[in-house]
Amino acid sequence: MSKVSVIVGLQWGDEGKGKIADFLSGDYDIIARFQGGANAGHTVKVGGREYVFHQVPSGLLRGGKVGILGAGMVIDIMSLVEELKQLEGVDYDLVIDERAHLVLPYHRLQDARQEESGRGVGSTRRGISQAYRDKYARFGVRAGSLLDERILKEDLKRSYEFNSRHFTVNLDFEEIYDILLTESREIRDMIGDASLYLRNAIEEGKSILMEGAQGTLLDIDFGTYPYVTSSHTISGGALVGLGFPWKRVDEVIGVFKAYTTRVGKGPFPTELVDETGNQLREKGGEYGATTGRPRRVGWLDLVALRYAVWVNGVDYLVMTKLDVLFGFPEVKVAVAYRLQGMDVRWFPASYHRLARVEPIYRTFPGFDDLDGARDYISFIEDYLGVPIKIISYGMDREKTVLR
Ligand code: IMP
Repeated sequence: MSKVSVIVGLQWGDEGKGKIADFLSGDYDIIARFQGGANAGHTVKVGGREYVFHQVPSGLLRGGKVGILGAGMVIDIMSLVEELKQLEGVDYDLVIDERAHLVLPYHRLQDARQEESGRGVGSTRRGISQAYRDKYARFGVRAGSLLDERILKEDLKRSYEFNSRHFTVNLDFEEIYDILLTESREIRDMIGDASLYLRNAIEEGKSILMEGAQGTLLDIDFGTYPYVTSSHTISGGALVGLGFPWKRVDEVIGVFKAYTTRVGKGPFPTELVDETGNQLREKGGEYGATTGRPRRVGWLDLVALRYAVWVNGVDYLVMTKLDVLFGFPEVKVAVAYRLQGMDVRWFPASYHRLARVEPIYRTFPGFDDLDGARDYISFIEDYLGVPIKIISYGMDREKTVLR
């Protein structure tokens, strides 16, 4: 029986989705990314070797899997070609939707310049927002254009001219065109209609895992706008990003970390800027996989999580990195916010309001192992009304329990 699952992050990204998707991928034939691009990053350790992937879906290293890069993504060809080198010798297939947009060299430059000017949101500098901007302005270049030199030239010309008002250095059109043409030779055969591919796969009874990148609170509409990424990170994004009918999705899996982290700017009600915060960061190794930036850290926020469970329609939860909380004298979770003397129990739509809330905490005595965390875990389940089916409390595969 085919099964279709969507796995998404419920916080500000870096919930450990990659590890969980990799863990679950044994049950699926196809793993499909539906949004974002090289701003994501996950590290896999196999046989003493470390692999870092940005655009390639999780689980391909297992062999015998098909990866999909969906229409909702923005793809950086240069970076993709590099990533795929890590998969040399592995048996896999990759289908890149011809509708996916390309991140062009000048997008990255504009992103970096915006960050350097101090007017950015603390982006990953991968040109993500610029590529999506061009897509929605209808000046984008799609992956399918790489299949025909004449069409590529035409589309690139429009994009180049549209972007040239932002250029601060001289960028040679022919040079960019040549780079794209050369690099794309490596991946040309992978470009096709991924939506149709998935339709056929379903007919054949194949199982699909749709893998989200970043997290709910970074969603372009439902996150803490403007401190968000430029795509739909919530489960609905899987449908639009893959051209897939919602009635064929069987379940939504929501992944959250036992505490909270965020990279980049923007409101973060439970943030800890004290020694406890430093300890959490060090113990959790909270440094960006893509940029190496130290992540901001804080306690678990159940107000935000309840909202994320709703907007994604989460069927079951996965809690990661519980072990990072082991050994703290006490552990807190936010159960409500205080705003101008009122109790707030729903995540505010406006970041202006969110930036002014004070979290109301429930404090738990510290714990040193899974057993000791029992009250913490059942409190979260009761509060959210959704079961936590998988708990990960260490790097090794054995440190993942199914409940
Ligand atoms: P962009 O996606 O590079 O435009 O960055 C926009 C915001 O999303 C910034 O705050 C980034 O730090 C954040 N962001 C983007 N990708 C990730 C991710 O994979 N994990 C965590 N934060 C991310």
